[in-house]
Amino acid sequence: MSTELARERAVREAIKYLEGAEVIGVGTGSTVEKLINLMRESKELHNKCFLASSIDTALKLKRANFKVLNILSTDHIDVYVDSADKVDLNLNMIKGGGAALTMEKLLAYYSKLNIFIIDYSKLVKSFSSNDYVPVDVLPCAVNMFIRHLSTLGYECVIRTSGKGKYGPVVSDVGGVIVDVRLHEGLDLVKFNNMIRSQPGVIETGLFIGLSDIVLVGYEDGVEVLRGVRTSNS
Ligand code: 5RP
Repeated sequence: MSTELARERAVREAIKYLEGAEVIGVGTGSTVEKLINLMRESKELHNKCFLASSIDTALKLKRANFKVLNILSTDHIDVYVDSADKVDLNLNMIKGGGAALTMEKLLAYYSKLNIFIIDYSKLVKSFSSNDYVPVDVLPCAVNMFIRHLSTLGYECVIRTSGKGKYGPVVSDVGGVIVDVRLHEGLDLVKFNNMIRSQPGVIETGLFIGLSDIVLVGYEDGVEVLRGVRTSNS
């Protein structure tokens, strides 16, 4: 089954939720790139205002002639739309594959409605010890954060970009991305709170209680999963 076609179906479904909104927050990544490309076809969406979760998304929106707001010029978001790296059956998400997790969580938290678009391959029963949660960490705190997490038994990897830049991936808010490996069967809320309580941590890529709607694309249709929003509902 083609994940590409599945994703495109879900993206097209997501666009329908955007048409009633005035201010729309937009995530980051290849799904979002597809979304922006398909949004070009809608005349109505060219009258909306957009908030970007990253420089990359702001540039893509601008190139497609959408109106991009400075985040300081508004205090509300009607709909936030994004993708995720993995979603479990409780609609918890691991995000941050594009290193934009801090701005993404900020926009999602304050948005009235959150819509996440995935293809079927990203939906899992639960997260496992093969999964890493991205953490945005102040550069000055990276060594101490990693050492401390290691003493607690967590494997940490500083993310590097591969090409185009030596050294760590630096997030849009100036942090270094550290990928922390999950333990099998851990309590996600406790883990998230523990990581977020470390001095120097800006944000984690675990999104808990933030999904209103997850659109799961399949080759032959889209499943609409509704979450219970417990984070700023
Ligand atoms: C970026 C993200 C993305 O939503 C996530 O990595 C999925 O990306 P893609 O749409 O390219 O599969 O969290 O920080």
